Amino acid sequence: MEKPRIILLGAPGSGKGTRAVALCEVLGIPQIATGDLFRKNLKEMTEIGKIAKGYIDRGELVPDEVTAAMLKDRLAQPDAKNGFVLDGFPRSVKQAEILDKLLAESGEKITSVIYIKVDDEEIVSRLTGRMICSKCQAPYHVRDHKPAKDGVCDKCGGELIVRDDDKPETIRKRLKVFHDVTFPLVEFYSARGLLAEIKSETSARGINADMKDLSKKLGFIA
Ligand code: AP5
Repeated sequence: MEKPRIILLGAPGSGKGTRAVALCEVLGIPQIATGDLFRKNLKEMTEIGKIAKGYIDRGELVPDEVTAAMLKDRLAQPDAKNGFVLDGFPRSVKQAEILDKLLAESGEKITSVIYIKVDDEEIVSRLTGRMICSKCQAPYHVRDHKPAKDGVCDKCGGELIVRDDDKPETIRKRLKVFHDVTFPLVEFYSARGLLAEIKSETSARGINADMKDLSKKLGFIA
C-alpha cells in the first residue's frame, strides 16, 4: 500500500487543522502545518519568525523561499518518511510546483488532495469563535467545539488562546488571498485526478468518524 502523502486544501478556517488532527490519528502519520511551524518560530523569536511576523499579521503569504526552506527541513525529519498530512502548504500553483520538486528528490509524490469546501460567512463565524492551544496548537471553538475544561486543551493541558490574525479585517484579507492565489489549486490537482472534495457540514465533533470513512475510501486503511 502506498504511503499516504496527503494535502488538505481549503480557505482559512475551513477546518484543515481540525481534520488534519483527526486524519493523523487514524493513519498514524504526522501533521505538517506551515502556519503552526510559523507560530512556533514566532514564539521562539527565530529569524524565520521575525521575517514571517509582518506577513502573518497582515494576512498575507510569507515569501515562498522562506516557507519552502522551512518545509524542506520538516519533510526531512524521520517521522515524515512514513507519510504525512500537509495542512497549509501548498497555497499557490508555484508552491505546488516547489513541492513536486522537493518530493521528487526522494522519489516521492502526493497521493491525495482533500479539498474542504465551506462558505465565506461560515468561515467568518468559525474564526471569530476559535481558540487554539498555546502548546500543541489544537483548535477549539467557543460554541461548536468546546474543551472539556474551560480554557484548557483536552489533549495536552495547554492554555487556550485567540490567534492574533483572527481579527475581522485580517480574516477578510486572508479570505481574499485564498480566492485569488490558493483556489486555482483545486483545478490544478483535479486535472491530475488527485482531488477529493468534502463539504464541511459535519460538526467538529463528527469529524473523527468522517476521516476514518474517507481514509477507507482513499484506500489508506482496510
Ligand atoms: P494557517 O495557520 O495555515 O492559517 P489558515 O490557512 O488561515 O487556516 P486556519 O489555521 O486559520 O484554519 P483551518 O482551516 O486550519 O481551520 P481550523 O481547523 O482551525 O496560516 C497562518 C498564516 O501563516 C497565513 O495567513 C500566512 O501568512 C502564513 N502561511 C502559512 N502557510 C503558508 C504558506 N504555505 N505560504 C505562505 N504563507 C503561509 O478550524 C477553524 C475553527 O472552526 C476552529 O475553531 C474549529 O474548532 C472550527 N471548526 C472546524 N471544523 C468545524 C466544523 N465542521 N463545524 C464547525 N466548526 C468547525
